[in-house]
Amino acid sequence: MELGVIGTGALTAAIITGLKSITDNSISVLLSPRNQDIAAGLASRHPDVRVASDNQTVLDSCDTIMLAIRPQIAHQVLPELRFRHRHHVVSLIATLSREEIAGLTAPAVSVTKALPMPMLAHRLGATIVYPPDAGVAKLFGRLGKVIEVENSSEFDALSVATATYGSYFKYLETIHRWLKEHGVRDGKARDYIASLFKALGNAPEMLPEKDFMHLAQDYATRGGINEQVLRELTALKVFDAVTERLDGVHRRITCDTHSRSNQVPRTETE
Ligand SMILES: NC(=O)c1ccc[n+]([C@@H]2O[C@H](COP(=O)([O-])OP(=O)(O)OC[C@H]3O[C@@H](n4cnc5c(N)ncnc54)[C@H](OP(=O)(O)O)[C@@H]3O)[C@@H](O)[C@H]2O)c1
Repeated sequence: MELGVIGTGALTAAIITGLKSITDNSISVLLSPRNQDIAAGLASRHPDVRVASDNQTVLDSCDTIMLAIRPQIAHQVLPELRFRHRHHVVSLIATLSREEIAGLTAPAVSVTKALPMPMLAHRLGATIVYPPDAGVAKLFGRLGKVIEVENSSEFDALSVATATYGSYFKYLETIHRWLKEHGVRDGKARDYIASLFKALGNAPEMLPEKDFMHLAQDYATRGGINEQVLRELTALKVFDAVTERLDGVHRRITCDTHSRSNQVPRTETE
């Protein structure tokens, strides 16, 4: 299989790095020339990764085309390209709906949305795939967990969860800063936090019968320090604030998608 890629940025670099860290993979890759440095770097590190002279050459050479350009330029870049019926388009463009991508890549009829994360470079994390597709699931399954969903509303809701990475690290940074202010050396505090949260991150998989609230309660011994922090943050409505922020991102994703979808001039069947 030769995978064609339009848009060679941070996410593409992560995916190709992850794929090429697997010794027995038979996937060769043809990259679009931009970003020149990233594309050249990937091609120099991996013998079966090549850089095409232009975007159209990628389409003319490959049947599976991964779209990894930013949403802001998709309406400018994609209509300039000649897609074909045989193309299977895999769009990573977070905020454009499947219908919108189908309109921009007609007459290709096979269009799948995938939402990977950069940690796939290390073969960690998960990719959401909509609609279910065995080939796309196999591709991303080499890099981590694949969650296939049947409808776009489920895809949109799961996408909202990806808006929490920054806050997660801010939470860790808050603990790190506090430890340093209380005399713990930088590296020691960082190592300790990284180890703690790595172990906690394993708990849901190791204890699949417990939901997240049960896991919280396991640590919140009555009268203990975990119960104190959880109770006080709950009283401050910190978790309500998180829910409201998730609602806000959900509104943004669904409004953006729907308002742009209504402006798409072409349909899948045209
Ligand atoms: N990064 C993430 O964690 C993440 C997660 C999920 C989904 N996504 C989605 O994945 C897509 C890519 O994200 P990213 O973080 O990889 O963005 P990025 O680093 O900005 O990569 C986009 C690449 O597209 C290239 N490009 C610009 N114009 C082009 C053109 N006309 N033809 C071909 N390539 C062109 C850019 O090259 P130049 O540098 O030369 O401009 C850039 O390298 C986005 O749609 C984003 O919504 C990203």
